[in-house]
Amino acid sequence: METKLFRFTHEHAADFTSSEKEAIREAGRILKSGGLVAFPTETVYGLGGDALNPSSSKKIYAAKGRPSDNPLIVHIAEKEDLKNVAEDIPEEAWILAEHFLPGPLTMILKKKAHIPSETTGGLSTVAVRMPSSEIAREMIREGGGYIAAPSANRSGRPSPTLAKYVMEDLAGNVELVLDGGSSVIGLESTIIDLTVSPPAILRPGAITEKMLSDVLGKVRADHGNLPEESKEAPKAPGMKYRHYAPQGDLTVVRGKQENVVSYVNEAAAETDMITAVISSNETAGLYKTDIIKTVGAREDEDAIGRNLFRVLRELDDEGAQLIFAESFEGAGVGTAVMNRLLKAAGHKEITV
Ligand code: TXA
Ligand code: MG
Repeated sequence: METKLFRFTHEHAADFTSSEKEAIREAGRILKSGGLVAFPTETVYGLGGDALNPSSSKKIYAAKGRPSDNPLIVHIAEKEDLKNVAEDIPEEAWILAEHFLPGPLTMILKKKAHIPSETTGGLSTVAVRMPSSEIAREMIREGGGYIAAPSANRSGRPSPTLAKYVMEDLAGNVELVLDGGSSVIGLESTIIDLTVSPPAILRPGAITEKMLSDVLGKVRADHGNLPEESKEAPKAPGMKYRHYAPQGDLTVVRGKQENVVSYVNEAAAETDMITAVISSNETAGLYKTDIIKTVGAREDEDAIGRNLFRVLRELDDEGAQLIFAESFEGAGVGTAVMNRLLKAAGHKEITV
């Protein structure tokens, strides 16, 4: 299959040119006929198929090389469509929809019978998300209103924040890629499970625990990472799989800034391997590793979130073998950054 790439120059539907509108219509035709379209969202790029068509979901798993017990998120374009995907919807869902949708939040709800088990990985619950990207929402509407989409990467790789990464991972396995430029958030949506009480955050993202508890009252953070070989059924099945890991050996180094810098520089001096560091802007100039990747200013958590996955991919492209990362804890998206970084490191961390 030849993969077509279409580049958008406008993000708001009101500004779409006739060729942009035609690209949305073409995406809709592909989705309705059971094909796959990759599309931009504010978080990361998604690999979309008709959520109501079991064979589309099967194609998604095959294209990603993803185990079929790992359920897909159903993307909608209107808040009211929650009712067509889920049943016994608790009041909390409408409160969250009011505050945060469209936006980077996925809710786990009891699924309606007509949602195929191929889409939900056999679960009786369904993940629902309404993205704020207007390219995404226009495409969802045109594709029938219910689009199953995981992140558009090959299973195990970092989620794509640029269309070129989608092409690298999935060219030949998807009919059309809509290129909306660089993802604004760069980390996947926050997932909150509303089928339990109190609601549980299964994956941290740009909508933080504090933002959720401010509107819901008590919420529980339940995103401890399960070991890969865990027999226990994970709450969000995707959490049990190895994720984001670069080909090189990655360690998160915590501690006082000067200790981190000297630890990394000493380790780099002692090895013949190609060494790299993932650094904040402030300290980048102090490292003596072969490769230095900056993710942003330390106080700019949003920038760090936006750049992390790109940097992880670039480290592979540049052949980094021994990689160190500073730690980027913060009050906002920093929790999500550290969740992804520690996963990428297989939880290898050291305090110096
Ligand atoms: O930001 C995002 O959420 C992106 C964009 C494309 O929307 N999508 C995304 O999808 O990250 P994916 O498939 O890469 O991650 C979805 C996660 C997986 O860990 C999956 O196990 C979990 O959501 N999940 C899906 N349905 C679930 C359910 N019914 N119960 C618990 N976890 C679920
Ligand atoms: Mg993913």
